[in-house]
Amino acid sequence: MKYWWQQAIVYQIYPRSFQDTNADGIGDLIGITQRLDYVKWLGATAIWISPIYPSPMADFGYDVSDYTDIHPLFGTLGDMDVLIAAAHERGLKVILDFVPSHTSNQHPWFLESRASRENARRDWYIWRDPAPGGGPPNNWLSHFGGDSAWEWDEQTGQYYLHLFLAEQPDLNWRNPEVQHEMLNAMRFWLDRGVDGFRVDVSYKVMKDTEFRDNPRAANWRPGMDPFLRLELKYSENMPETHQFNRWLRAVADEYSDRVLIGEIYLPIVDLVKHYGRQDEFHLPFNFHLILTEWNAPAVRAIVEEYEEALPEGAWPNWVLGNHDQHRFATRVGAKQARLGMMLLLTLRGTPTIYYGDEIGMQDVEIPLDKIQDPAELNAPGLGLGRDPERTPMQWDSSPNAGFCPPDVEPWLPLAENYEQVNVARQKEEPDSMLSFTHSLIALRQQSSALIEGNYRTVGDDEHLLSYMRESDDERALIVLNFGAVPRTWTLPAEIGESELSLSTHIKERSTVIDGKLTIGGHEGVLFRQKLA
Ligand code: GLC
Ligand code: CA
Repeated sequence: MKYWWQQAIVYQIYPRSFQDTNADGIGDLIGITQRLDYVKWLGATAIWISPIYPSPMADFGYDVSDYTDIHPLFGTLGDMDVLIAAAHERGLKVILDFVPSHTSNQHPWFLESRASRENARRDWYIWRDPAPGGGPPNNWLSHFGGDSAWEWDEQTGQYYLHLFLAEQPDLNWRNPEVQHEMLNAMRFWLDRGVDGFRVDVSYKVMKDTEFRDNPRAANWRPGMDPFLRLELKYSENMPETHQFNRWLRAVADEYSDRVLIGEIYLPIVDLVKHYGRQDEFHLPFNFHLILTEWNAPAVRAIVEEYEEALPEGAWPNWVLGNHDQHRFATRVGAKQARLGMMLLLTLRGTPTIYYGDEIGMQDVEIPLDKIQDPAELNAPGLGLGRDPERTPMQWDSSPNAGFCPPDVEPWLPLAENYEQVNVARQKEEPDSMLSFTHSLIALRQQSSALIEGNYRTVGDDEHLLSYMRESDDERALIVLNFGAVPRTWTLPAEIGESELSLSTHIKERSTVIDGKLTIGGHEGVLFRQKLA
């Protein structure tokens, strides 16, 4: 294996919710540093931290007002230096979030840009005259509510573009000065020792030169996200996105051993083009386990499609959850949570684990008066809010779960069941989700078949997904029962006599008799075999 990120297990930390150390109910950098030993113990090898930059927090840090500093809520540049050093001491890599598509409307660049049409920074953002008959320049919609993506500016008599909130004006990356400043912001962090970036909505950065109208979406119905009324034909994945990817990659390549991960929600055929010729993203995030129906045939089909589509030299990756998606254990049901973790950690490629998924954290219902996320506030009741999956990490059974002091209100409510579902408790229970995840990671990290072996589907059962991973000296067979009832399945001849190495469950664990496996409902099992 050539690069660290091919062998990595990435652990995503949502900084507001990981660990508070100064009693304001919001997680901070010192908190992350304090919990690095846990990440290390779990067996993850890299952390990706969602944005920690100065921000008015209209979109909880994804509205950046300074790309080269730390929000005081999270700490200081000094705290970040300590975090990076502490992570590196433990052999952990640090990946930051880079948000190139838009800034905050409070960023000094935007304040200048909107000051007058003649301002030197006017062209740093995307300003347009009204359409010929009046109104916005085109029909594009913005995320989080589905209103026009154009905001009228009374003072200068033009509209500016915002694909997300009006508080998140889009940068004009066709302006060379914007390119220069933004790429330098990357260098600022790379110089400080950061090991790479997850690049926010990378595929939306380059806009259509002609700003053509988007077509209506044929299958949109009331009750769906109003933003999806239109297809995104001209407002994402434009051909120039690949040029943008190459700019970023060239900067990463000025340094040794850094990684770029693109946040890209696209069909597989389009997604894999973001590897370029090894000159774009190292890892274009693959979200298809989130987007695909949760059953054996559907997951098998998507894994095969992805494996086949990967270009020469491209390294795969998989994701089950993040800060924008309902918790995995809620989407597929708590009983399938371990199975999902086993899938994530045994497919070929780099897995990313969302904090708390290793203990089976679930969505938390947020009372109306505690809702924070604009995605919910602007389109209430459609289930689009992201607060439920962003609640504080459940560390132990003490009040506030060890996230913040007992007498402080956390920024989002804790799960009601935190006294049962928490790290401290699950560490003690051999049959917990955490103990399982811990053992699975340990097994993966010393298995050449799992780290670098090839992938081959075995069988086409309706309820069982089974596949072989094979390296020069080892073979691993994984069988996952997506159904609720036990099944019997004939093991492939070459595996017949091998030992069952790991099951998702200690109790009611499966049996093998005469080459036939009887696997429990919701169970996943793994067999390993040394090859001579
Ligand atoms: C990405 C982030 C999301 C954010 C959006 C706008 O999708 O993951 O949290 O709201 O970009 O920056
Ligand atoms: Ca704090």
